[in-house]
Amino acid sequence: MAAMTQIRNIVILTGAGVSAESGIDTFRGGGGLWEQHRVEDVATPEAFARDPELVLRFYDMRREAIQTKQPNAAHFALARFDREWAGELLIVTQNVDDLHERAGARRVLHMHGEHLNAWCSNCDIRSPWRGPLIERPPCPACGARALRPDVVWFGEMPYRMDEIYGALRSADLFVSIGTSGAVYPAAGFVRDARELGTRTLELNLERSQGSAWFDESRLGPAGELVPAWVEEMLGS
Ligand code: OAD
Repeated sequence: MAAMTQIRNIVILTGAGVSAESGIDTFRGGGGLWEQHRVEDVATPEAFARDPELVLRFYDMRREAIQTKQPNAAHFALARFDREWAGELLIVTQNVDDLHERAGARRVLHMHGEHLNAWCSNCDIRSPWRGPLIERPPCPACGARALRPDVVWFGEMPYRMDEIYGALRSADLFVSIGTSGAVYPAAGFVRDARELGTRTLELNLERSQGSAWFDESRLGPAGELVPAWVEEMLGS
């Protein structure tokens, strides 16, 4: 990519495509999670109010599944990039799995929450959580049986948006990896970046919905494209 030598501060947005080669289902497209389940049945506050058992069971299954999966070459390459990149870096992930962290990445922000946390609706405290929530276990902090998955549902505000926009404002490069560009506000980051004059690069299996906004799109599996891009950036 031209002019990469000028780049110091980077924001990377990741989506389900980064974890696809680890065997975690994506949301959209053939066989995706949202083909098997209706969003309004399992991923909204209204669904949880109406049928908490259905929602808790759905997330219990997902929480259990991610613990059997391993990071892939894309996660490991981004973790290496995090270790070796001397400039500012923020890996904003829409993913609720912990594969970036298990690969060793540190500068990771989970804008859609995390499967391995439970959030208490009574005391507002988040606790690390690996087991099921369906039996309504007590909150480790306050004892109330009011735990919910710490995952952002449709109609809820994603986390830490001020930090994300702050990082975007000082970024020289915005890279989007493995996301369809279907869900806002993340889908709008590329346009925000462009308005700020930031270079934009997409790495995805196929063109995303916002593909036209990127200066450059590289198409292929993240497990190949991400290690190649990291090599290029680190110059080795
Ligand atoms: P999607 O399932 O919408 O999109 C996944 C993208 O990854 C698609 O563009 C695929 O082409 C691409 N892809 C699939 N396999 C790939 C691979 N091996 N390498 C590279 N790319 C690959 O997932 P997201 O964009 O992450 O939100 O979805 C965004 C949000 O919608 C999720 O965070 C979730 C969902 O509803 C909430 O639940 C709040």
